[in-house]
Amino acid sequence: MDVLANHIIFIGFMGSGKSSVARRLARFEKMNCIDMDSYIEREAGMSVPRIFELEGEEGFRVRELDFLRSMLIRDRCVLSCGGGVVVREQSRELLKQLGTVVYLKVDADEAVSRISRPETRPLLSGAVPPAEILASRLAYYEETADITVDTRGISMPQVTAAAQRALRMAGKLPPSSRPQGSGRPHATSGSSAASRPRTASKPPAASRPQGSGKPSSPDRSPSRSDRPQATGKPPSADNTSSKQQIPGRSPRVRRSARLEGRQ
Ligand code: S3P
Repeated sequence: MDVLANHIIFIGFMGSGKSSVARRLARFEKMNCIDMDSYIEREAGMSVPRIFELEGEEGFRVRELDFLRSMLIRDRCVLSCGGGVVVREQSRELLKQLGTVVYLKVDADEAVSRISRPETRPLLSGAVPPAEILASRLAYYEETADITVDTRGISMPQVTAAAQRALRMAGKLPPSSRPQGSGRPHATSGSSAASRPRTASKPPAASRPQGSGKPSSPDRSPSRSDRPQATGKPPSADNTSSKQQIPGRSPRVRRSARLEGRQ
């Protein structure tokens, strides 16, 4: 099958801010935005917790895979994926085919503290602690990512700006005519296919905020209905080579963002 997509895809643990950042980026770039969990819920006619209840995690993973397959023939957009999308190898392969994968890195404690309605995440009420779930997925996130943004200690606008900058430098977004938010946080290059972007920016470690205030505010809109906003733009040239790090300004922590919830 021909792949038309070349989407911009956000992955990362629950609470990493994928939905919020995807929506923001899509708005800035005038692209459509699709939230995978919302899409699955609409298709299934039931909530994610209900799907887990009736079909188990396995059933949900199959739905994720179906969703990713359906994205192969969709016009370019920004995709926000559920945190466990990387668990299945087939899904990881599809993600790589689907476009440029941006991994929002977070640690388990910070992630959980950002989730305002944990009951909407079935795995958070399971037997396995979040830190263990995250640890079991780390290698998958890293393997799948083209670009990694370290979200620890920074706000969602800063995360969005870092992702936007890295995508632009990788030739995955057209040149900007507008300023892109404050801070220059934590984007590093990815590792997957050779034709994938490698651009990054990362501040000196010492300049990164450490435990200073409550950082980001992920996101998902209460309804989880991230829907399209406008038409996408074509990608520009690819930009490949080895990993690279570009020092940046030290990010400032903002506390303004809301905690996200979802139904
Ligand atoms: C899951 C993450 C959730 C949702 C489901 C499973 C996971 O999405 O897909 O509860 O396995 O990590 P978010 O990452 O958007 O919370």
